[in-house]
Amino acid sequence: MALSFNYKYPSVEDLREKAKKRIPRFAFEYLDGGCNEDVNIIRNTSEIRDVQLEPRYLNNYKDSTIKTTLLGREYDAPFGIAPVGLQGLMWPNSPEILAKAAFKHNIPFILSTVSTSTIERASELTQGNAWFQLYNPVDSSIRKDIINRAAAAECPVLVLLCDVPTFGYRPRDFRNGLALPPKMSLENILQILSKPKWAFESLKHGQPNFENLKPYMPDGLNLTQLGKFMDQTFSGRLNPERIAPIRDQWKGKLVLKGVSSEADTQEAIRLGFDGVIVSNHGGRQLDAGESTIKPLTNIAAKYGDQIEVMMDSGLRSGPDIARSIASGAKFTFLGRSFMYGAAALGEKGGDHTISMLKVQLKQVLDQLCCEKVSDLPKHLI
Ligand SMILES: Cc1cc2nc3c(=O)[nH]c(=O)nc-3n(C[C@H](O)[C@H](O)[C@H](O)COP(=O)(O)O)c2cc1C
Repeated sequence: MALSFNYKYPSVEDLREKAKKRIPRFAFEYLDGGCNEDVNIIRNTSEIRDVQLEPRYLNNYKDSTIKTTLLGREYDAPFGIAPVGLQGLMWPNSPEILAKAAFKHNIPFILSTVSTSTIERASELTQGNAWFQLYNPVDSSIRKDIINRAAAAECPVLVLLCDVPTFGYRPRDFRNGLALPPKMSLENILQILSKPKWAFESLKHGQPNFENLKPYMPDGLNLTQLGKFMDQTFSGRLNPERIAPIRDQWKGKLVLKGVSSEADTQEAIRLGFDGVIVSNHGGRQLDAGESTIKPLTNIAAKYGDQIEVMMDSGLRSGPDIARSIASGAKFTFLGRSFMYGAAALGEKGGDHTISMLKVQLKQVLDQLCCEKVSDLPKHLI
């Protein structure tokens, strides 16, 4: 098989290992870790991998395509780049690297409210194709302003996050005193000095900051102050009253991210969402929670004809994406995998990771003798 990517890194795990060597420990641990004892993050991937698929070798098979339609648009692959906060801390310029790669490959890129780039820049790099993930602002003037900015930037999809009623309990970040810009403790300085490429790129691109929030926030907050600012400015605790004005103001497609129950899916349909992302934030919020593949199956079976059901958390490969779609997801997202790619390979990281996942996924379809991704559920054992 001809490989359209760097064959030295043929898996997400290779990219993760390389990323670990290139970025300071406090930044790697922020990216890599789950919450509490990491039970949920481990369960996510291991339970996806319990899903098995059956090939039909004697099918009259012609060729497969991984192109997919989602929310009224055609994408070149059934996966996209999930929103990740503080991206530029993990690899300088990574939101730009990933947005450009997503545009080149015609897959969705979702910018987080707390990314280190702006809605306007993401839109420019993707010619108006970037999605925007909104943390629910408490202050109605900030809410209106951010939504107006997303509309002016022509974002086709607004993604509202519902799984952050609390700040995730992440022991590594507490120990590391994680802050943006990074706190210059002796320990952090030593970590930075041991990663010269990261340090050089950081100097080149300037200190990462919450660019989207600059109009609304004071400078130089540490983790505790940031928690306080986020608590005061945004409320991760959503309810129908808080969602209604967002639905009223936003005229484009609206997606609820972080759903892990049938009850919340039903409510999302009632409140006028166009899609849900079944997600547990990559195992970063509720260590005692289920893996996402578990609720996905019932949610997709019961509500898939009323709302577009997408899924993330724990996917690390083409076979994982195929397992998720076979289990009912119409589309999938990956968070850490793309950040490992950007941290490992810099400017080439987004392109590489997308190309690699496409090749892996197409190989699964060809092996199953499955011509299109929407037929994957027929191969579920
Ligand atoms: C470092 C990190 C930061 C994240 N920040 C956000 C965020 O700002 N907004 C959001 O909606 N989700 C955020 N997420 C969750 C991702 O969008 C996504 O749900 C998750 O990464 C999927 O799991 P995976 O990393 O196993 O693919 C973050 C995830 C990680 C790993």
